Amino acid sequence: MPGNPAAAKPRRKGRHGVAVQQPEIPSTGHEWDGITEYDNPMPRWWLWTFYVTIVWAIGYVVAYPAIPLITGATQGLLGTDYRKEVTAEIERFDQANAEIQSRLASVELDAIPGDPDLMNYATNAGGAVFRTWCAQCHGSGAGGARGYPNLLDNDWLWGGSLEEVHTTIQHGIRDPQDGDTRYSEMPRFGRDELLEGEQIEQVVDYVLSLSDLPHDAASASEGEVVYQDNCSACHMEDGTGDRGQGAPNLVDAVWLYGSDAETVTRIVSDGPFGVMPAWTARLSEADIRAVATYVHGLGGGE
Ligand code: HEC
Ligand code: HEC
Repeated sequence: MPGNPAAAKPRRKGRHGVAVQQPEIPSTGHEWDGITEYDNPMPRWWLWTFYVTIVWAIGYVVAYPAIPLITGATQGLLGTDYRKEVTAEIERFDQANAEIQSRLASVELDAIPGDPDLMNYATNAGGAVFRTWCAQCHGSGAGGARGYPNLLDNDWLWGGSLEEVHTTIQHGIRDPQDGDTRYSEMPRFGRDELLEGEQIEQVVDYVLSLSDLPHDAASASEGEVVYQDNCSACHMEDGTGDRGQGAPNLVDAVWLYGSDAETVTRIVSDGPFGVMPAWTARLSEADIRAVATYVHGLGGGE
């Protein structure tokens, strides 16, 4: 490569097409594939902005908590403590709510719906409790999912009065940690060989026939006998279920686990065992009542 291109006076066309002479710009001496790097100074405005940020950073470190230490951080001259501010805010809200919370926890349950202040507080606070503790299983809109009941409809496994919903939340369902939990156990008819494969097919056809789903009619009529002998004690002779045992209604269109033959066969063979945790150990009575009121008010409450 002849000469140093950076040293060669670069030319460019001016506004009116006249070649303009550029001042000579020194090169840093770096060259890649024939491209050389000019040694231009930084623009003034850039440099000054840069200095200002340095001064700002030093000022910030002196004034505010900034440098992490082993326990905590440097405090800063202004004494700002965001953690304290948050704690104080939380305390302020707790104090403001203390009175209504203790009233909510102590009145008779059925007095809540008649008290507008309590209702207003319980519904709002209960919604927040629901989104924090219940939504992961029941869905953020309480619409449920397979195995996790929809709490918006009026189809209840264990009961939909405020009292019953409250008990369900307090003690859970089949929660081994709670002595007062709601409990029942559907037998595992296939796995424990209580019924033969053919009988299970028949009773499944019968269950499907109860809500007009596609089924084999001949098999279903055999299945009715199997049903009355083995299932009616919990699901009732007419299939409408029994809330005392949390046994679902089998004649409606609402399914906890699914309405296809394969799912129903699996349920009858293996037995379902839905578990809902008890909340007494984790939530205050006021929070439990709030979320019970919220769920009760979702539309299906009785
Ligand atoms: C770990 C999952 C899980 C969480 C968390 C959970 N639930 Fe449940 N919940 C269930 C299951 C499963 C059932 C159905 C149990 C059964 O099959 O009988 C249920 C049933 C219920 C029922 C009874 C519905 C009926 O038809 O009788 C209510 C009411 C309820 N949950 C409310 C709540 C509330 C309120 C919370 C939050 C405080 C909550 N659940 C948190 C899993 C959960
Ligand atoms: C001891 C009481 C009991 C007996 C007997 C019983 N069940 Fe159940 N069944 C239940 C309970 C309780 C549930 C809900 C369990 C859960 O959610 O974990 C249930 C759930 C079901 C479901 C799921 C419903 C849905 O909405 O997804 C089907 C289907 C069912 N039973 C069919 C049968 C059939 C068929 C028989 C007889 C062969 C039978 N059950 C016998 C208690 C019983």
